[in-house]
Amino acid sequence: MKRADEIQKPEGKLGVLIPGLGGAVSTTFLAGVEAVRNGLALPVGSLAQMGTVRLGKRFEYRIPRIRDLVPLADLGDLVFGGWDIFRENCFEAASQAKVLEKEHLEGVRPFLEKVSPWPAVFDREYVKNLSGPNVKSEKGHRRLVDALRQEIEAFRKENDLARCVMIWCGSTEAYLTPSEVHGSLTAFEEGLDRDDPAISPSMLYAYAALTSGVPYVNGAPNLTVDIPALEELAEKNGLPIAGKDLKTGQTLMKTILAPGLKARMLGLTGWYSTNLLGNRDGLVLDDKDSFKTKEESKLSALQTILQPEVYPELYEEFHHKVSINYYPPRGDQKEGWDCIDIFGWLGYPMQIRVDFLCRDSILAAPLVLDLVLFTDLALRAGMHGIQEWLSFYFKSPHCAPNLYAEHDLFIQLMKLKNTLRYLMGEEQITHLGLDYYYPL
Ligand SMILES: NC(=O)c1ccc[n+]([C@@H]2O[C@H](COP(=O)([O-])OP(=O)(O)OC[C@H]3O[C@@H](n4cnc5c(N)ncnc54)[C@H](O)[C@@H]3O)[C@@H](O)[C@H]2O)c1
Repeated sequence: MKRADEIQKPEGKLGVLIPGLGGAVSTTFLAGVEAVRNGLALPVGSLAQMGTVRLGKRFEYRIPRIRDLVPLADLGDLVFGGWDIFRENCFEAASQAKVLEKEHLEGVRPFLEKVSPWPAVFDREYVKNLSGPNVKSEKGHRRLVDALRQEIEAFRKENDLARCVMIWCGSTEAYLTPSEVHGSLTAFEEGLDRDDPAISPSMLYAYAALTSGVPYVNGAPNLTVDIPALEELAEKNGLPIAGKDLKTGQTLMKTILAPGLKARMLGLTGWYSTNLLGNRDGLVLDDKDSFKTKEESKLSALQTILQPEVYPELYEEFHHKVSINYYPPRGDQKEGWDCIDIFGWLGYPMQIRVDFLCRDSILAAPLVLDLVLFTDLALRAGMHGIQEWLSFYFKSPHCAPNLYAEHDLFIQLMKLKNTLRYLMGEEQITHLGLDYYYPL
């Protein structure tokens, strides 16, 4: 791992490869980056662009912006490419997604019109509620991987790219549990040879990326790089991997509220969460197999934050329900309802209601930007394998097999900032602060 001046400078262009290029998250991300580049908007929600890190002692008042502290790629150097099962260019796709208002889209129209998706690697077994015309005709896992690798190479050459990052913004795939074929790189490569159906399309993209020198980030809850085979491949090729499932609406709220309740030792008897969602993601999640993948991802946060095994009197028996209702009138403007039943002193019950009228892709787009920039930083710093320091961005953080995932947003933030301090050779901040009052 390289630190401070040893980290390779972010020189040259950075390719951003996106499976799911025509989706709501992806097109909102592209449109936003272009708007920011043209000075039409601020990158609100992006920690990498707007956040700061405190350095040294509190009286020093050194609080640089993250982007001034660590060498991140310049937004002007980002070049976009990707795949989708629909053919529309990113302007048409963004117009259909109806996340951004017409006036915003018109401002970046020429840029969006120039980005069109390449044919996708797609298997309807993995996304039952979608079908589209822009799908690769090659048959067999190996041929599909080769086609993806050729596209990555051509994209690199045509745009004279110095580095690339791939980030999955495609649909949620059907629920899959790790099996033998995922257990080692050898087993996986044998599985590729015999077109094993337990190797999903997202795994083919990830394999193509990791064998082309490209890090892979998973924005969806799919089982993809969080399997020993692809972890091994990432390590072998010295590439970062990170995931999974962008932490946006309801889970963001959960990971803000639950640490607070636990910090005050307030008990929980139940947390009932429901979502009304009407975009294409909602349609995909209306299928029980894709929903199961999302449900697993959404359920894990509370359990790990509240640690019922450590605090049985407070959290042992809480009921946790999550549902997603596909309701087209809401479009991308998801409504996340939470009814939270808690108890306090002497066991007296109380209730909290949260009704988050959010915009799914508006929350997701800045996370995609940060993940691209930080993963590229990790690549240049020689940080290979699982990037747990990026847990801050995910509902189901990918961590080492012998660890439990850290879900608490504030611990995740501290971990991220301490990693940046470490990378730049700055002291870690413990917040002890006793030395301000007593000579230690
Ligand atoms: N919006 C959020 O807040 C949020 C939060 C967390 C995770 N996610 C996840 O991010 C992903 C994208 O969300 P979205 O709202 O943009 O959904 P979307 O349906 O608008 O976009 C997904 C796109 O992926 C395409 N696609 C599906 N399978 C593909 C394949 N094999 N190859 C290439 N393209 C493929 C679809 O055609 C679609 O255009 C989903 O998996 C979603 O669950 C979104």
